[in-house]
Amino acid sequence: MRPLQGCRGRGVVVGTVTLCLAAGWALQSKCPTPSLPAPLPPPALPSCSSPRSPGGVSLVVPQPNINATVAQNILLSVEYSCRGVATIEWKHVSSWGTTSIVEWRSGNYVNISTVYKDRVTTFENGSIQLRNVGMRDAGYYFVTVMEEHGTNAYGTIVVNVYEIIYEDLHFVAVLFAFLAAVSAILICFMWLCNKSLHLFQKKTTHKLTELKRADIREDIIISLDDNHGVYRRKTPMCKCGATDLDNLSAPFKRI
Ligand SMILES: *[C@@H]1O[C@H](CO)[C@@H](O)[C@H](O)[C@H]1NC(C)=O
Ligand SMILES: *[C@@H]1O[C@H](CO)[C@@H](O)[C@H](O)[C@H]1NC(C)=O
Ligand SMILES: *[C@@H]1O[C@H](CO)[C@@H](O)[C@H](O)[C@H]1NC(C)=O
Repeated sequence: MRPLQGCRGRGVVVGTVTLCLAAGWALQSKCPTPSLPAPLPPPALPSCSSPRSPGGVSLVVPQPNINATVAQNILLSVEYSCRGVATIEWKHVSSWGTTSIVEWRSGNYVNISTVYKDRVTTFENGSIQLRNVGMRDAGYYFVTVMEEHGTNAYGTIVVNVYEIIYEDLHFVAVLFAFLAAVSAILICFMWLCNKSLHLFQKKTTHKLTELKRADIREDIIISLDDNHGVYRRKTPMCKCGATDLDNLSAPFKRI
């Protein structure tokens, strides 16, 4: 019973393997048949590089986010793999609408839209290079890889385009802030100068008026001198008079 069962199990396994092999052979032999009746059978297409995904088409987008500055060249890098010949299509979607950029069939044709005619280069792995980007090139880039058997793969790359002017603006803003600070300091300094000058002027005028007053007093005294001939000195309140005169007149008095 037991060895018989084992035999039967092995038989089932062998049968399955045979069936699989047969199916595989049938599939393999079936593959070239549709290309045979085609009117222009491509002799040696550099189609899919490696059949990494036997069940269809796969697409790898290593960098789904690209930051670029105006006038830069950008590489929208992808890598696809599929069994048959694939058609690759790139579209740009932005606030201005959807534009078809390029559509090509590996080794067959390349159809670049007129808008992108001399700005786009296609690569064998599905990537495209976009030269001299502008602000309008910002947005979403959709890539579709269509296999002849009907399976598709999709990828998206977001591109941000910055104007270099923004950096300049930043610099200008910093410079402006610096200049504003300097001018504020200068204004403060000037205000202080003005204040101290006013103070100085006030003091000087005060002194001047004092001096003027003194001059006037002297003038009065001098004029008084002229009138009475008593006081020769400028000193208005001369106390010398009495004692000196006494001393002077003493000998005369004594005599
Ligand atoms: C692009 O810039 C954004 C911020 O603006 C940042 O988050 C992102 O990491 C940048 N991407 C690359 C690839 O440098
Ligand atoms: C695709 O090919 C281009 C040009 O050979 C290369 O620069 C880029 O890195 C490739 N992309 C990937 C994802 O390998
Ligand atoms: C190329 O594109 C134009 C317009 O988009 C279209 O009329 C033409 O059929 C395309 N050619 C191929 C070979 O796909």
